[in-house]
Amino acid sequence: MSADEPPRGASSAPAGGSEVRKPDGPPQGRAREGEARTSSTAPRAWGDHGSGPPLKFASPLIDEATIAGVADVLRSGQITSGPWVARFEAGLSTFCEGRPVRVMTSATAAVEVALQLCGIGAGDEVITCAQSFFTVQNMIVKCGATPVFVDCDLVTRNIDLAQVSSRMGPRTRAIIPTHWPGSLVDMDALHGLARRHGLRVIEDAALVIGSRYRGRPVGAIGDLVTFSFHPNKNMTSIEGGALVCNDEREARRVDVLRFHGIERLPDGTRDVAFPGGKFNLPDVNARIGVEQLARLPDFLAQRRNLVLRYFERFPTNTGCVLPPRPAEGDGQSWNMFCILLPDALPMSRKAFRDALESRGIATGVSYEALHLSTLGRRYGYQRGDLPNTERIAERTVTLPLHAAMSVDDVDRVCDACAQILGR
Ligand SMILES: Cc1ncc(COP(=O)(O)O)c(C=O)c1O
Repeated sequence: MSADEPPRGASSAPAGGSEVRKPDGPPQGRAREGEARTSSTAPRAWGDHGSGPPLKFASPLIDEATIAGVADVLRSGQITSGPWVARFEAGLSTFCEGRPVRVMTSATAAVEVALQLCGIGAGDEVITCAQSFFTVQNMIVKCGATPVFVDCDLVTRNIDLAQVSSRMGPRTRAIIPTHWPGSLVDMDALHGLARRHGLRVIEDAALVIGSRYRGRPVGAIGDLVTFSFHPNKNMTSIEGGALVCNDEREARRVDVLRFHGIERLPDGTRDVAFPGGKFNLPDVNARIGVEQLARLPDFLAQRRNLVLRYFERFPTNTGCVLPPRPAEGDGQSWNMFCILLPDALPMSRKAFRDALESRGIATGVSYEALHLSTLGRRYGYQRGDLPNTERIAERTVTLPLHAAMSVDDVDRVCDACAQILGR
């Protein structure tokens, strides 16, 4: 979502990549923030069995030490990019096994800068998955290139690499896959393919900081990797994102690209050769990010507990497609728990979400089909082109999952789903 959209979702924060509905009101953008609704406008046909306190879709955990730390930064007078940015980047670099990392105001900025770093522009094509957030298509188009959309797997929702192969052409310059919670893209196959064809890879890892591939953290391997620190993600800096680079030369170029394109000349003056953006992260945000990075293992452990509970308690024989079941030691992180409603269900997705909403439970949609957006259709796509992406776009529901939830909250969601689905 763009930064200037009104807040969405039941969290105090905007919704990030998901269209989110407040548990006590209509989809955000129409609800007044903080407005309590005792009587829902949602249809009651599926039964209202009492809502309990509103269960948020996402809720960042900011502790008192962080709040005090932010106050210290504010008092210090050094509030835009400074020592805390350097510290945040150093921490992220250690997390990524020493690869250089640069933080920015969002993951969207990081994807834009990554494309610029690769020199991608007019006349180039970038292959990406249509089952992802608007960021990927928007930034490809914004840098002047053409997005080439491919489908995803119906269960993992990861990019279909066979389709990537078949859509490569002489103008292809890069691949942007989005990693999904619970199951990463097959990185050996992805990077092998890219290497064989001389392509850059920009991994959209907005949802998966903390996931591991063959025991190594996402960000430690591959080419360019982007993270999001939006409040709905595994850790937050309010808004914020990061770009993991291959070497210091690339990182120094990112320093230029994220700050107006300004290069400092030996005589102390400045020059601009490329119209860079203004994406530097303030120290206030970086201060939060440093604390959150330290707490990330705890957040991830709690999220995983909650997902295990979802698998234990989600009603069986509903025909819903669930995400890949976690396996012992699989190293996967869980930012979202997305279910796919069965086509045979005699109920629209809206009715299902309304029924959860009437019980005080917020839900989201991750994601709409990019190739069928007004922007995506400009490139000639139509309904039927990418069946898995379209089916997910029509039938997916994201259930609440965040580290502030308890297993009782998961039970409440599962009981509500069982009632609504007639189980
Ligand atoms: C998959 C994915 N990629 C990228 C982004 C963009 O993140 P940001 O809000 O930090 O720009 C999002 C946002 O939610 C996302 O869900």
